[in-house]
Amino acid sequence: MKEPLQGKTVLITGASSGIGAQVARDLAARGTLVLLVARRKDRLDTLKKEIEKTGGRAQVFVCDLEEPTARADLIRKILKQPTPVDILINNAGFGWYGYYADMPLETRNSLLRINVEAVLDLTSALLPGMRERASGHIINIGSIAGGLPNQGIAMYAASKAFLDAFSTSLYREMKGSGVCISVLRLGPVKTEFFEHARRLPNGGSVPAERFSISVQRASRGVLRLLRTRRRYSYMPAVTGVLPLLALLFGGVIDMLGPLLLKRKAD
Ligand SMILES: NC(=O)c1ccc[n+]([C@@H]2O[C@H](COP(=O)([O-])OP(=O)(O)OC[C@H]3O[C@@H](n4cnc5c(N)ncnc54)[C@H](OP(=O)(O)O)[C@@H]3O)[C@@H](O)[C@H]2O)c1
Repeated sequence: MKEPLQGKTVLITGASSGIGAQVARDLAARGTLVLLVARRKDRLDTLKKEIEKTGGRAQVFVCDLEEPTARADLIRKILKQPTPVDILINNAGFGWYGYYADMPLETRNSLLRINVEAVLDLTSALLPGMRERASGHIINIGSIAGGLPNQGIAMYAASKAFLDAFSTSLYREMKGSGVCISVLRLGPVKTEFFEHARRLPNGGSVPAERFSISVQRASRGVLRLLRTRRRYSYMPAVTGVLPLLALLFGGVIDMLGPLLLKRKAD
């Protein structure tokens, strides 16, 4: 039987490490051409070689998604490609842990540019073409934090809540058009994400890291959304109860939250 993803072109942001790199491997193995976007060229080149060694196809696009001009340049290059993008995976992003009052403005702005603005720019660039072709899928890599705002993750949770609301609206707008927009609400995943958050100015750590799942499992969440074309999915599935619990027991979380989300410096 023909693999349904065979021959599709997939653009993956944040493909140089963690979830994005694994999604690229898994999609290339299913016969897609993967367009790899991130800043670290060496990592992207290594991944491209790895994919090609196993018979897959990949192209590297080095881009700092924080920079509006670099994003515009990337979009120009992507739109000039001989094959249009069938699937966009907005995965690049980072978190910062600590109290908002301690968050450096530059880190806050950077988070908004990558976690939110870059998603908007790429969606604006690619969605109209998908609608015209009556075919396409955009998957936004969200987090359970998007439905579970908590002490210590104000900006990160807000950025993922934005993705959640944006994806839901677009899913409904595009219903019946042949284009699907989904959000993957991930729990903690074993990647460089937490180390990166710790290295940022004033950055702290969160205990949730110890409950992390593998990147392979996170990537299965993406594959599942591509197969089912559902509006959202939780990975691991059990975390789907958390927003409901937060709604029911918000008062308890108000009390326990500060204890659960202690900063490293505390
Ligand atoms: N790990 C978790 O626990 C977890 C949980 C829920 C959701 N998520 C989400 O999953 C996504 C991927 O994170 P990850 O866990 O795989 O972390 P990661 O290993 O740190 O990967 C982050 C990716 O984003 C890219 N990126 C960061 N800043 C960029 C910029 N300015 N321009 C271009 N690319 C940039 C990085 O590439 P370069 O540094 O090479 O540019 C890297 O490829 C993020 O959206 C994150 O919020 C993660």
